[in-house]
Amino acid sequence: MSLLGFIWKFMNPRAQFLFFTIAGLLAGLGVQVEAADSGRHDTADGLVLTPPMGWYPWNQFGQDPQNEGLIKEIGEAVVQSGMRDVGYSFVGPDEGICFRRSTNGLLSTVESRYPSGLRGLGDYIHRLGLKYALYTDAGTNTCSGAMPGTKGHEFEDMRSFADWRCDYLKIDWCNTDGMDPANAYTRLHEALLRSGRPIVHSLCSWGVGNPWNWAAPVGHLWRTTGDICGPGRADYGNAEKIAFFNQGLYPHAGPGYWNDPDMLIVGMAGLSEAQNRTIFSLWCLMASPLIAGNDVRAMSASTLAILTNLEAIAVNQDPLGIQGHVVSHTNGLSIWAGKPLFDGSQAVVIYNEQKVPAPIRIAWSELGLQTSSGIYVRDLWSHRSTGPFAEGITLMVPGQDVLMLRLAQTKAFPIPPITSADTYLISLQASGPAAQTLTGQLTVKTVGTDALHLWQVRRDLPDWLSVKVSKHGKSQTFSNRIHTAGLAKGHYHAVVRADNTEPVSRKPMSALYYDVDLEVQDDVAMK
Ligand code: GLA
Repeated sequence: MSLLGFIWKFMNPRAQFLFFTIAGLLAGLGVQVEAADSGRHDTADGLVLTPPMGWYPWNQFGQDPQNEGLIKEIGEAVVQSGMRDVGYSFVGPDEGICFRRSTNGLLSTVESRYPSGLRGLGDYIHRLGLKYALYTDAGTNTCSGAMPGTKGHEFEDMRSFADWRCDYLKIDWCNTDGMDPANAYTRLHEALLRSGRPIVHSLCSWGVGNPWNWAAPVGHLWRTTGDICGPGRADYGNAEKIAFFNQGLYPHAGPGYWNDPDMLIVGMAGLSEAQNRTIFSLWCLMASPLIAGNDVRAMSASTLAILTNLEAIAVNQDPLGIQGHVVSHTNGLSIWAGKPLFDGSQAVVIYNEQKVPAPIRIAWSELGLQTSSGIYVRDLWSHRSTGPFAEGITLMVPGQDVLMLRLAQTKAFPIPPITSADTYLISLQASGPAAQTLTGQLTVKTVGTDALHLWQVRRDLPDWLSVKVSKHGKSQTFSNRIHTAGLAKGHYHAVVRADNTEPVSRKPMSALYYDVDLEVQDDVAMK
């Protein structure tokens, strides 16, 4: 255990809060809180090699309004609004009274709220071309006490989440008296592995136990701070504090393991357009998970434009996966940089906390940019390019707002591939004693400048399934061919995995996973 971790254990909650505030101030000043190595993250599962994107209900709704109807409507809105196509994929309930513990010790759905069952809701989400997110707690109970926690049931509970076809599990830290976060989350990681399903492990200890120092080998993202707001009560000042704290943890994040400064408050009541733009820009630059928290069924055109700004998302989803941070902070004017991108360009955010516009001079040499022929500047909110500029640039930053820029030696500002699919579930039925061939397709497309190479499907498929991929520009079709010869009556399931690399940086992309279900209604002959 690190020295800070050791001291932390003996601090009472008020002292921990004070520590958090002081650390936040130091981080805001560019002082690194602790430079310990977060340990090696194993990327073999190919999960979230760029920061996860999606939607969770907590910030807007809190607990009571969550039910199957709400989650389905939100999923539909994510598709219809175009959010899915620019990368938002993980959607599901937070602490939404989803399950109870039955007398046999296993979890079961609270059907009065989720009548299709948690598996049925998962299938619905997957058919929308979205990934299924769920929530639990490492302690005895979830925070409100409405649901059981996993303590003492880690292995069977992770099996239940896998049976429900969960793809992303947020594990909270309420009711954990006497527990050590590193031990508890390590055990949960082992239980997730044992479940046999690739599931993104989202640790939610609010920074307790300094997860950035030890969580990379056991998880994919970890909350670095307390909650960004109470349900329905967006708090810009707190979001700003969290951003300044979280940026200082930049050495601890990378592809597949991310610092999580909490879900977005963009689009919630009480925030101005400039505040929404500022939060989104900072989260993008910090390679933070982009988990929307607003009511996406009823958002303004301005909120939608911010959440789907592809040029900003491209910075967040950059294949190098580097977290940017504050490189200078004077008189309420901060420069957030240290974010090289896949094509050799750099992303920069300039944040003006003051009410009045402020001029700023940025010399290329300060950012470590070398140039013989000047630097082109792309404004990622006005979508305009200028330059080349020989040594630097002077800009006016509007009051309480940001400028978000990309700087490059060439005029081109390519967008990396951002992937979405029209479904993540192929489900087929066969009846009668004669062998049959069934087919089902899904289409995977990317937004981005370059088309991808062909997705490579893993060879570990069961005998009854074969998959062929064909390419048409930026879309690729996965043709699933099922042959039922010799199968006994029953249900069959396979998880298909495909891999790809980003063509410019040649970095591995997040693996693509989907489920194939087959129901065979009668025993089938060999031919
Ligand atoms: C904690 C988490 C929140 C949310 C609530 C649910 O406070 O940090 O994001 O999940 O629990 O009670």
